[in-house]
Amino acid sequence: MEFPTPTTSHLTSHDFERIYEPAEDSYLLMDALEAHCQQIRNLRPSLCVEVGVGSGAVLTFLGGIIGSSAHYIGTDISRHAAVAARSTGQHNNILIDTVQTDLVTALLPRCSGCVDVMLFNPPYVVTPSEEISQGGIAATWAGGVNGREVTDRLLPLVSRLLSPSGRFYLLLLEENQPGDVHQILSDTGLSGEEVIRRRSGPENLSVWCYKRK
Ligand SMILES: C[S@@+](CC[C@H](N)C(=O)[O-])C[C@H]1O[C@@H](n2cnc3c(N)ncnc32)[C@H](O)[C@@H]1O
Repeated sequence: MEFPTPTTSHLTSHDFERIYEPAEDSYLLMDALEAHCQQIRNLRPSLCVEVGVGSGAVLTFLGGIIGSSAHYIGTDISRHAAVAARSTGQHNNILIDTVQTDLVTALLPRCSGCVDVMLFNPPYVVTPSEEISQGGIAATWAGGVNGREVTDRLLPLVSRLLSPSGRFYLLLLEENQPGDVHQILSDTGLSGEEVIRRRSGPENLSVWCYKRK
């Protein structure tokens, strides 16, 4: 089944100086969701959350798979991203609520045990730690040590948020040490499988799907 790539033509080059422009990683995450479209639909999701929603293109794409029966929430540390993601939803007929917050802080504890599909394409690039808090566009890609500093803060919260049959889709770079992420999530009761892998220039990217053991 093929689903249309959401339009982001309402966003300008000026917007993309402040928000992450959909790139190979974003499209790989969309391809993973497309590959799992039937299993995602079978879950009959009612709440879907994208952490670090950026332009909103990926969450909107998920909305194209599931339809209007689910509620969509995007979080982002950036106010500009929160505004952009809502408008990307509108331009593609998907209703998206957004919240400017650190990771999922604003969703806890209210959404605990309620999230059926959770997505994260994190800032994954290996950088000095200081770049993470530098602000601006660097916050969209700077991942600090092993490119994992932002991701590692979310991992302990995933199992708390997921519904009993919930799924967590996470994009990782090889340098992020996926095996290590696996172990951390396994210790919280989740097991994962690789959905898709692609080399993009120097980046070896993969998307993983986690669910309760
Ligand atoms: C690699 S971009 C992905 C954007 C979008 N999801 C996509 O796939 O195109 C990472 C996103 O995470 C956001 N982000 C970074 N640190 C965050 C934090 N602590 N809490 C919430 N969002 C964060 C960035 O602003 C950026 O929008």
